[in-house]
Amino acid sequence: MTTPRSTDLAFTPAVKSIQTRLGSRSIYEGVERRGGFQTEITQDLARFIAARDSLYLGTASADGRPYIQHRGGPKGFLKVIDERTLAFADFSGNRQYLSMGNLSENDQAFLFLMDYAQKKRMKLWGRARFVEDDPALLAAVSDPAYRATPERVLVFELEAWDANCPQHIPRLFTEDEVAERERVLRARIAELEGAQASSA
Ligand SMILES: Cc1cc2nc3c(=O)[nH]c(=O)nc-3n(C[C@H](O)[C@H](O)[C@H](O)COP(=O)(O)O)c2cc1C
Repeated sequence: MTTPRSTDLAFTPAVKSIQTRLGSRSIYEGVERRGGFQTEITQDLARFIAARDSLYLGTASADGRPYIQHRGGPKGFLKVIDERTLAFADFSGNRQYLSMGNLSENDQAFLFLMDYAQKKRMKLWGRARFVEDDPALLAAVSDPAYRATPERVLVFELEAWDANCPQHIPRLFTEDEVAERERVLRARIAELEGAQASSA
C-alpha cells in the first residue's frame, strides 16, 4: 500500500527545495502522484527481510543528533510481525545503550537493509521502541541456537519504505556463502582427480 504523503517523511521542505534548485523535483512529484513510497511490508520485502543476517539501525537524540549502529543475528533474525511491524532481539553488548537512550526520547527510527551479494538496499522509515517486559515476544524473536544473549526486543513500526538502485554497492559474500561455493569446487576437484587417477 502507498499513501500520497508517505514521501513527506523523506522529502521535507528543505529536500524539496533542493530538488527544485537542482532540477529533480518533477521526477519526485511523479513518485508522489503515483502514491509515494510503500507503507506496508509486501511479500517481496518480507522475502528480502527473511534473508538478512544484519542491519543498520538509525536513531537520533532528542535534539536530532543522528546515530547508526550495526545489528546482526542469525539469518532471518529480523521478524515480520504484521504488515507494518518488524521486530528483532537486542543482544547484550557494550552497555552504552545509545540506541535505547535515543529511542526513549525520540522514537523516530530508520532501518537500512543491505544485501551485498545481490547488490540491493532497502530504506525503511518508522518509529521504534525497546520492549523489556514481554518474555513471549522475546522468545518469538530469539534463536536459542545463536551465540548471544537476547535481552529485549526492538519493535519497529513501519511508516514508509523504498528501494535504492545497486550503484556503488561492493559485491560481498558472507563466509557461509563462500564456504558453500568452496565446497562445490572442492567436490568437483575431487571428482576430476578421481577420474584422472583411474585413467592413469
Ligand atoms: C563485550 C562487548 C564489547 C563491545 N564493544 C563495542 C565497542 O567498543 N564499540 C561498538 O561500537 N560496539 C561494541 N560492542 C557491540 C555493541 O555493544 C552492540 O553493537 C550494541 O548493540 C550497541 O548498541 P548501541 O550502539 O545502541 O549502544 C561490544 C559488544 C560486546 C559484547
